[in-house]
Amino acid sequence: MKDLVRMRTSLKEEIERILNEQIKMEAHSSAIYLSMAAWCDRNGFDFSAGYFYKQSNEERNHMLKLFNYVSDMGGHAISPEVTNVPQEFDGFRDVFELALQQEIAVSNAINRIVGQARQLNDFATDQFMQWFVKEQIEEEYVARRAVELFDVIGEEGVGRYMIDKAIPKITYGDVEAQ
Ligand code: FEO
Repeated sequence: MKDLVRMRTSLKEEIERILNEQIKMEAHSSAIYLSMAAWCDRNGFDFSAGYFYKQSNEERNHMLKLFNYVSDMGGHAISPEVTNVPQEFDGFRDVFELALQQEIAVSNAINRIVGQARQLNDFATDQFMQWFVKEQIEEEYVARRAVELFDVIGEEGVGRYMIDKAIPKITYGDVEAQ
């Protein structure tokens, strides 16, 4: 039965497996950002909460994009189980440090998929993943800029309020508008 299913798709088992891992990673990112949004809300950082709600939605869309690709290619897309979602964070800055680490981990995972797709001559997956490669440049930039704001503005006095207000305005490629 398994072989019969395989014959109906050019998606190699290994690629299907790592794409499903990525589906899970995006779902996990979405859940982490949601808990970060709640943490920011609880601690009075409403602008950052809004930013993380938006990020959480974006990650879910990334998950769906991968999910649909695996399905459309005739593969078995697995609805992921999401566990290990932290609900508490050590502080305002720590939330953003963690978000940046998360984005870097995602970029690395995406690079591994592209590398593997190329090794296996899977040009469809290689091309499909290029959207994610580009998207990660932006996601990493925004996450890094958010952390930088803590140094640039400083957390003293009204600093944290200023940082909170500046977070949703970070835009990739349009520094003039910030
Ligand atoms: Fe979908 Fe921010 O990685």
